[in-house]
Amino acid sequence: MAEIAGKRIVLGVTGGIAAYKAAELTRLLVKAGATVDVVMTEAATRFVSAVTFQALSGRPVWSSLWSDENRSMAHIDLTRGADAVLVAPATADFLARLAHGMANDLLTTLCQARDCPLLVAPAMNRQMWEQPATQRNVAQLAADGVAVLGPAAGEQACGEVGEGRMLEAQEVFDALVAFVQPKPLAGKKVMLTAGPTFEALDPVRGLTNTSSGKMGFALARACAEAGAEVTLVAGPVCESQSSRYAAKRIDVVSALEMRDAVLAALPGQDVFIAVAAVADYRPASPSEHKIKKGAQTLSIELVANPDILAEVAARPDAPFCVGFAAESRNLAEYAEGKRKAKKLPLVVGNLVQDGLGGDTNQVTLFDATGAHPLPAGDKLAVARGIVSHIERLMKCPE
Ligand code: PMT
Repeated sequence: MAEIAGKRIVLGVTGGIAAYKAAELTRLLVKAGATVDVVMTEAATRFVSAVTFQALSGRPVWSSLWSDENRSMAHIDLTRGADAVLVAPATADFLARLAHGMANDLLTTLCQARDCPLLVAPAMNRQMWEQPATQRNVAQLAADGVAVLGPAAGEQACGEVGEGRMLEAQEVFDALVAFVQPKPLAGKKVMLTAGPTFEALDPVRGLTNTSSGKMGFALARACAEAGAEVTLVAGPVCESQSSRYAAKRIDVVSALEMRDAVLAALPGQDVFIAVAAVADYRPASPSEHKIKKGAQTLSIELVANPDILAEVAARPDAPFCVGFAAESRNLAEYAEGKRKAKKLPLVVGNLVQDGLGGDTNQVTLFDATGAHPLPAGDKLAVARGIVSHIERLMKCPE
């Protein structure tokens, strides 16, 4: 379950075609255990009925400063004790009114009267988004501390193509979950490696492994959620994986490229987490041309790759280093062996059969005090557990 259970979110819905996405967003939030109080502008009720949000949230829906069904102080009460106000979709008109401190309906009034963070997910036609006035308003809101989510580019309801689409409900949900997480790594810089490496044999073939990068990308996201500035050095992973949480992503192919990228980005890093399944060996002399079939046997000489993690951990200015160990047996012995050999404060051990390629993982954390198993779960939940442990160790080194 996403870590938003028990939070109370005030979801503002303004009048745009993307209002339908707010219904899905409400469903995602409620399913994750959040309490959602929906506040609609009058225009929003023209696009989606209040009854839809009432049914999805299981709570009354608010839309007017004046109507009888509302508490007289709804504009104050609704945000007291709330964890965040999220306005999705936020129209150009709403953003303009908000940026100018107007309070001429329930939603703008409660935004002005709130004592909790405010997030907005803009949604409008591309020309409206590009208007200097809209850009000024959004810049002003960002300067005022409002978190602006998106917008995305793509096909619009009006048939035009460009920037201005509201993010998808799942993307807004993910951003909100990230936003409400505690920020124990605020001000810290974290670099991670993720995925496999590919060691060329010839122009079309090579040695690699089945690491998908999912564990490394999940950890990058968990670190960013915890407030860190993340640099992600990724081997050749599936295109569809999102790295939008990383402030910087560096794509590499081979172990040597990964090493160069890590060493170049190392200065100033507080934490280095080596999640990548780096090839231990590479072909000594990759063929310039495709190796032709014919011979019954083929010998390939391999040479050892540098151990990136060991090299980083051995530096006098080493950041807090975390290693991973994927083993098919004797997990505790091998993981602890790697921890001691590379002089690491923490090694995350996982069985190959649990962690490689899939969406879930089961890990045990090995540090100077012993072995700490984490509950099995999806890789993001596991990553959040690892980040909490890193944060504890950094605060109180053994
Ligand atoms: O990508 P997924 O499909 O989500 O799978 C995740 C994973 C199983 C690959 C990941 O959780 C994991 O366990 N990664 C480490 C794999 C491993 O066992 O690596 P290793 O034993 O070869 O190396 C130990 C540590 O040294 C690792 O932190 C590795 O990144 C690092 N290393 C190893 C070799 C090398 N040349 N340079 C390194 O930095």
